[in-house]
Amino acid sequence: MENEQRAAVVTGSGSGIGRAIVDRLHGDGWSVLGVDLKSDETLPGPSLGADLTTREGNRAAVDTALEHFGRLDLVVANAGFQHVSPVADFDEDRWDALLGILLTSPFLLAKYAWESLRAAPEGGRFVAIASAHALAASPFKAGYVSAKHGVLGLVKTLALEGAADGITATAVCPGYVRTPLVEKQIADQARAHGISEDRVLEEVILTPHASKRLIEPSEVADVVAFLQTRAGSSFTGSPVIMDMGWTAR
Ligand SMILES: NC(=O)c1ccc[n+]([C@@H]2O[C@H](COP(=O)([O-])OP(=O)(O)OC[C@H]3O[C@@H](n4cnc5c(N)ncnc54)[C@H](O)[C@@H]3O)[C@@H](O)[C@H]2O)c1
Repeated sequence: MENEQRAAVVTGSGSGIGRAIVDRLHGDGWSVLGVDLKSDETLPGPSLGADLTTREGNRAAVDTALEHFGRLDLVVANAGFQHVSPVADFDEDRWDALLGILLTSPFLLAKYAWESLRAAPEGGRFVAIASAHALAASPFKAGYVSAKHGVLGLVKTLALEGAADGITATAVCPGYVRTPLVEKQIADQARAHGISEDRVLEEVILTPHASKRLIEPSEVADVVAFLQTRAGSSFTGSPVIMDMGWTAR
């Protein structure tokens, strides 16, 4: 019997934003495959361990979702990491890895899933979790900022190519989100500067936010869920900016 539940693959499902998206979609009745470096039995659905800086890893992500669900309606390209360094010292292997996970993996996932997205009964969806750094730069983040700007270009292109087949593509662009990635930066900076974590949060991390709070992972997941609605389908080829006023300046 054909699977009547809509099916998604979500990368970077082992932590932070990816985990919140898996939980939200599952709660909304979706079949969801989570993909991260290691498989994860705590997810509500199946998971796959794969290195998404490789072509095989991205191919396996799409193929495994199709094996489990027999259809694929949504790709959420979310996996990523940060590397902070002045450009003159920027490690070239870290550059390659950043571009690999933040830009090439979304491209490969879209390419390998494209025929399935075209066949999705309610219209295929592609969502990249980009960043405010898709729109604005910060010093010492050359690889991350370049890749995030690039993924916005990819999303615009996918939206134009997919429109005739009912496929939408959207880049969600958050400011700072309370995830292990950011919590580690807060703890490290507090230790390095000999100041409290609250002061690091206010005086360092939240400097670009006009509204002085972190975004919660569940808020990003809420936006991804909204994009799956009929109204959400008009947000194609564009960034959805949720950056606490960062890029309003
Ligand atoms: N946290 C923020 O403030 C923030 C803000 C804007 C955008 N983002 C973006 O959101 C996404 C998720 O970030 P997060 O904060 O939840 O980070 P996180 O570190 O909590 O989770 C990222 C996940 O990606 C996985 N991953 C990394 N490299 C991988 C690889 N090669 N193969 C498979 N999986 C891999 C990690 O194992 C991890 O589980 C990233 O693309 C990040 O750039 C985060």
